[in-house]
Amino acid sequence: MSNPNMGFLPPLGWNSWNTFTWDINEELIRQVADVFVEQGYKDAGYEYIVIDDCWSLRERDEQGRLVPDPAKFPSGMKALADYIHSKGLKFGMYSCAGTHTCAGYPGSFEHEFQDAKQFAEWEVDYLKYDYCFKPRSMEGELLYRRMGLALKNCGRDILFSACNWGQDEVHGWIRSAGAHMYRSTGDIQDNWESIKRLAISQLDKAAYTGNYCHNDMDMLVVGMHGGSNNDFIGTVGGCTDVQYKTHFSLWSMMGSPLMIGCDIRKANDTIKDILQNKDILAINQDREARGVYVLHPEPHWFHGQECYMLVKVLADGDLAIGFFNLSDSKRELPLMFWDLGLSIGSGKKLSLYDCWEHKDLGVFTERFAPTVDAHDCLVVRGKLV
Ligand code: GAL
Repeated sequence: MSNPNMGFLPPLGWNSWNTFTWDINEELIRQVADVFVEQGYKDAGYEYIVIDDCWSLRERDEQGRLVPDPAKFPSGMKALADYIHSKGLKFGMYSCAGTHTCAGYPGSFEHEFQDAKQFAEWEVDYLKYDYCFKPRSMEGELLYRRMGLALKNCGRDILFSACNWGQDEVHGWIRSAGAHMYRSTGDIQDNWESIKRLAISQLDKAAYTGNYCHNDMDMLVVGMHGGSNNDFIGTVGGCTDVQYKTHFSLWSMMGSPLMIGCDIRKANDTIKDILQNKDILAINQDREARGVYVLHPEPHWFHGQECYMLVKVLADGDLAIGFFNLSDSKRELPLMFWDLGLSIGSGKKLSLYDCWEHKDLGVFTERFAPTVDAHDCLVVRGKLV
């Protein structure tokens, strides 16, 4: 019997890649599990702890099995899974649809069923599946179908996290291949331009998400502050806390899985408040998991793609509304209620609640026009009254 909750909502968790890339080991992973429990992440809903690339030896063993690097994981993967499960959390690992992973370790090409069985034996709960070094002449769709089928038949519930960076019109076929989430973007970097680029790139794909197959805009950089060991991801500076707040709001509203990428052992209170904002997480975890629609404020010629509103219809009839100002100057972003389907003749008003300040803003008729600072956002929950 498979667990009907698996992948129903956008998965929440932590992934080793953004901060640690190759420099991973079992002690780090255990500490992250401890922090999940001790510092409120588990209670906030975060569940999956995922080891990304660079966990194995460079060669398979004589039986063709993947071998965890004994220098990094001396106790083995089953022991690590046991530890994570003992905390009431779930364990994720990583492989690749090609012959090699992006960092050059063995991939699962032509080993799909064997590897799925191996992951099940280690009691893995989640598999991220990358796209490097796949035969050029083979359709990615077929390779994701293969692993999707192997996981569905491996004897364990393993959530399938596809990662082909949005290539090959993936949104059109990935749900049918069996994935529970799919990367729709190239790799994120710990800087504002990257956040902005990724967010804008998914505006016309906002509808391609939903229960059991979520649009994954890539792991979060919230709280990294330039803390990666990888030059591409970003070793200096990072973002301001306002930019991290906007990043978190965008990913949450767009229905993306929220996989934390910072070193949560070192996260300060501001970062914790962002990552554990229960009002924002409730929007991301709304049970109907609807994609947002996008509204462009007037005048369109002035705001372009840099300022917009995202609206998510929630299961209880409320509307989550995000006002995003990705531009470099302060902007007024008028929302006309008729664009929400609220006819003037209905006599309905909107009672608005600020999901970052955690307070009511009052009852509004016909329009609401907040002024939003550069790179900032306002996320409200609107109730019809
Ligand atoms: C990339 C992937 C990253 C990370 C990396 C590991 O292809 O998008 O998220 O997994 O490979 O090498």
